[in-house]
Amino acid sequence: MQRKAHPLWEAFSRHLESVSSADQLSDLRDEYLGRKRGLISLELKKLAVLSPEERPVAGQQLNELKQQVEQSLLKKQSQFKQQHRSERLKTEGMDVTLPGYPFPRGGIHPLRRVWEEMEEILVHMGFTVASGPEVETDYYNFEALNIPKGHPARDDQDTLYLSENLLLRTHTSPVQIRTMESQEPPIRIVVPGRVYRRDSVDATHSPMFHQMEGLVVGEEITLADLKGTLEVFFRALFSEDTLVRLRPSYFPFVEPGAEVDISCIFCRAKGCRVCKKTGWIEILGAGMVHPKVFEMVGYDPERYTGFAWGMGIDRIALLKYQVNDLRLFFENDVRFLRQF
Ligand code: PHE
Repeated sequence: MQRKAHPLWEAFSRHLESVSSADQLSDLRDEYLGRKRGLISLELKKLAVLSPEERPVAGQQLNELKQQVEQSLLKKQSQFKQQHRSERLKTEGMDVTLPGYPFPRGGIHPLRRVWEEMEEILVHMGFTVASGPEVETDYYNFEALNIPKGHPARDDQDTLYLSENLLLRTHTSPVQIRTMESQEPPIRIVVPGRVYRRDSVDATHSPMFHQMEGLVVGEEITLADLKGTLEVFFRALFSEDTLVRLRPSYFPFVEPGAEVDISCIFCRAKGCRVCKKTGWIEILGAGMVHPKVFEMVGYDPERYTGFAWGMGIDRIALLKYQVNDLRLFFENDVRFLRQF
């Protein structure tokens, strides 16, 4: 026998149809199933006043109603969940075919590149890389290099002084002294680093630039070793047919001193704008370590000889990359830097 549905069922069904959100659904649940005031709970309480014959029939009817209501509520709830999920998938989905964001990469600065290349050649030739402080004392920058106070060579180097005794090193040569003070010959070092001079900025000058010093000390080291070393170096750096020549010059810490030229790498020594039609490019200062310098560091000048050079890394970078203005290396405009 099909029992009649409880009269509340029809009202509930209508209500349920009009529900349009999870919140409304939860209110509807309270309205019917709430423990104290829920309509079904109230109906259950009414059973107590029925006669013993009526009670089981009404009770069962009510239980069925309760079950149906619970099931309908659950069904509706899962419908809402489903709906919520598909809405989220629609709005929060991502398009994996969209192109990614550009991720610009940095690179090695051209000066650093040349620095590393020069260093690598010399390390392969047996040199060890040494370094020293950029803030130097008067003693290491001048005195120990045979440039006493009042010496005219001090005027050549527009020194930036920090105090009477402290300065920004004007060359990498003080590292010669520091190295010889702490080591016995044989010595074969290369010293790359920053140096400072009171120059105003233009296409060929900067108050901070870079040098790479070389120092070789031993027994029976000669000027021919200096020339041969520089030849091997420049042939590796530029090209196999690069020539090296020495012209007499003066630096207080070497004797004899020399200005070193290389054959023009642009016109192969035929004469062009860069070498001013001479075929040669002046590239560094060098010479045989002065006996007075050996005395300053406690080496026996009768026993040891040596050579030293100092070359500008920036100048070599200008030549190597055919850049005509030093400022481009320091302004760090990425449009310039990107070319290297
Ligand atoms: N220190 C010198 C300069 O900066 C260069 C140099 C180094 C010359 C070593 C001779 C020997 O001008």
